[in-house]
Amino acid sequence: MKRITLKDIVIVIQRTLDSMDDRLAGHGEKVAYIMYKLLKCHGGYSDEEILRMITLAVFHDIGVYKIEERDHIVDMDLEIPMNHSVYGYLFIKYFSPLSDLADIVLGHHLYPKDFNDSAKVKIPKEALILNLADSIAVLQLHFNKIDPMLILNKSSNDLLEEHKELFKKACNEYDLIEKIETDTYLNELYEILDKRELSRREIIAYARMLNYAIDFRSESTVVHTITVEEISWQISKMLGLDDYKSTIIKIASMLHDIGKLSIPINILEKKGKLTQEEFEIIKCHTIVGYNILSNMGIDDIRDIATLHHEKLNGTGYPFCLKGDNISKEARIVAVADVLSALIGKRSYKDEFSKDEVISILSNMASNYEIDKDICKLVIENYDYIEKRVKANTKNTLKLYKNLMNEYKELLEYFEKISFILK
Ligand SMILES: [Fe+2]
Ligand SMILES: [Fe+2]
Ligand SMILES: [Fe+2]
Repeated sequence: MKRITLKDIVIVIQRTLDSMDDRLAGHGEKVAYIMYKLLKCHGGYSDEEILRMITLAVFHDIGVYKIEERDHIVDMDLEIPMNHSVYGYLFIKYFSPLSDLADIVLGHHLYPKDFNDSAKVKIPKEALILNLADSIAVLQLHFNKIDPMLILNKSSNDLLEEHKELFKKACNEYDLIEKIETDTYLNELYEILDKRELSRREIIAYARMLNYAIDFRSESTVVHTITVEEISWQISKMLGLDDYKSTIIKIASMLHDIGKLSIPINILEKKGKLTQEEFEIIKCHTIVGYNILSNMGIDDIRDIATLHHEKLNGTGYPFCLKGDNISKEARIVAVADVLSALIGKRSYKDEFSKDEVISILSNMASNYEIDKDICKLVIENYDYIEKRVKANTKNTLKLYKNLMNEYKELLEYFEKISFILK
């Protein structure tokens, strides 16, 4: 496998966030860079701690994939956009490789005045540094230029004196404002991220985080990707593929619907038949995913992941590929995707019975839509595959339910506190 570094992961995450709302384009990268400089000026952190915190800064707004609060985030609103902070915190805590840093995201829209020593949730100081980095990036978004006095004149309720000093130091020592205003920070940011190579386990952990983000958007797809991944994995093993190929297929399965994060939720969750126009929008998830994974030296993963709606007879999308132009690996993910959709409940349908699933798969194979050998293998091992899928998805469903309950509780708690603080 190509050497994969934090840079690659950050690019995929940033492109995914960009595809959701172009007002957030590059926001994570910018906040990460500012955070980097503020932490450097602060001192006392190891290189690894800094790398982990700037990676977190890239996706500090990840909660917006589920909680529509983007207007508040980009609008310098006075109201604290707590919903995505709380959801993002829980999501990062349970489903990301940076779970120990989740508290920072929880507090990233809070100010010193909101801190309370007896609070139920302890917010670390780094949350205030992330808040400062975020507000500098939002200032630039609105005015194109950053007037340092808008930061330095803040009251001590809104910005700690020591953090004003950090900001001044970053401007003096690192030309922070100029770098941000002239967009010259990206090379430097990616240079340091590129030095940190990721292990296979770490790559899978980040892909897993994205796969939960894709699935959790809609109540009806909470375990879709994990199901596709398990089915693809089982097929790879049954076909006797080697460890390298199986791992590539596994990662590709986890990312196969990454473009779905750009599709409006009302279309994803629509009950009943989609209009032609809505269907065309849904179809775009393949090409969005294709672009997210392009130009990164991982075309093998991209071509397995995002060709899962191609059909051997050329009637699929996005490229209407035919027969030999669709690799065996992509055919595996395509069959796994169909099977996952058939055995799962959706907003527009219930799960199908085993007989129905087998009959639909067989029809698709005889119409030369999916690979007939893979299809035969799946049908012959149906019960085993289904058992494996159930064992694998049970935990995720439970975790998802817990997350949503905890989200409601925490939100109520913060609403109560903000009421007291007012
Ligand atoms: Fe935010
Ligand atoms: Fe798809
Ligand atoms: Fe899918």
